[in-house]
Amino acid sequence: MAALFTPFQLKDVTLRNRIAIPPMCQYSAHEGYLSDWHAPHYASMARGGAGLVIVEATAVSPEGRITPGCAGLWEDGQIEGMARVASAIKAAGAVPGIQIGHAGRKASANLPWEGDDHIAEGDRRGWPTLAPSAIAFGAGLPKVPGEMTLDAIARVQADFVASAKRALAAGFQWLELHFAHGYLAQSFFSPVANQRTDRYGGSAENRGRFLLETLAAVRAVWPEHLPLTARFGVVEYDGHDDSFYPEAAHLVRQMRDGGLDLIDASIGFSTLNSKAPWGPGFFVPVAARLKHDVQMPVAASWCIDDPHMAEKAVAEGSMDLVLIARAHLANPHYPYQLAIALGEENPAWTLPAPYAHWLSRYRGPGKGAAQ
Ligand SMILES: Cc1cc2nc3c(=O)[nH]c(=O)nc-3n(C[C@H](O)[C@H](O)[C@H](O)COP(=O)(O)O)c2cc1C
Repeated sequence: MAALFTPFQLKDVTLRNRIAIPPMCQYSAHEGYLSDWHAPHYASMARGGAGLVIVEATAVSPEGRITPGCAGLWEDGQIEGMARVASAIKAAGAVPGIQIGHAGRKASANLPWEGDDHIAEGDRRGWPTLAPSAIAFGAGLPKVPGEMTLDAIARVQADFVASAKRALAAGFQWLELHFAHGYLAQSFFSPVANQRTDRYGGSAENRGRFLLETLAAVRAVWPEHLPLTARFGVVEYDGHDDSFYPEAAHLVRQMRDGGLDLIDASIGFSTLNSKAPWGPGFFVPVAARLKHDVQMPVAASWCIDDPHMAEKAVAEGSMDLVLIARAHLANPHYPYQLAIALGEENPAWTLPAPYAHWLSRYRGPGKGAAQ
């Protein structure tokens, strides 16, 4: 059996394989409430065979949404829609996960297909943004955020805790804290975005404080037997990674010691100067290096969707889980394609029985009659 199709246990949760679908915003919620789009979307992802399906970045407060279409868990009424999604994922044999986060200075943006830039000043659909320092991201995101007071920091951390409790009430079994991609938590850690002079800014220790405190507060309410994970950018590709990566890896070790069960390694995206070397598998060596340096379970995404590359990443121990995003949008049954490509004995059985039974002897369109 391919390594990709071996089970993976973390705490009391067992994934049926090492294929996971990372969070992908659908921008189809209203006031943070899920719409008719979401449950069928997530059900189809889970029916495709992945072991873990992580629901999109879900805002812990209204101002923490990236766009007006983002999902939220800042009030109890939002639990019901999420519970339907968690249940649909579970019914299809996958573990339901969810990512909670706050978009910081990148919040208040138009939907990607409507510009992906900040909603114009004066447009009533937008809202004031918050960040560690009053520094705009720039380019299409020029809005200057308000510098967070200590009270605002404590309030957002309490929002993370309250949202984690709602995620648990909705039935999720895997929680991912969104500490990546230039959103609020990542921008606290970024020396470019964070110019504070109090205990949340300056040294790496101070810049990591918001993340460690938030993790500790969530760990106190998220059950010990369920995985608590974080997505965090350990490289920025802005020419300063020689100093940034060691600090980031040290923070991951501190998170591990603070109760983090798995790190979803990603990119910081805190600066406009990021020049990631896009290409098949470019991120695998970063994940492998982090796994070596932090000695804890690691997952990673970014162009690791080629079957043999994904298999090699797990078989060689570069990562424990391969996160495959866009290939699942193109084909929710992508794990079935992976199983065929890797020569699994009964590839159709990566799919549920109502599909698998009919596909087990079917060779594809134009290849003759099914039996
Ligand atoms: C439509 C879409 C929405 C995304 N939304 C999120 C998100 O909510 N949270 C997040 O951390 N990353 C998000 N991402 C990034 C993906 O989780 C993933 O890291 C990225 O697409 C790289 O994986 P891939 O090369 O397999 O597509 C999104 C990506 C896509 C394509």
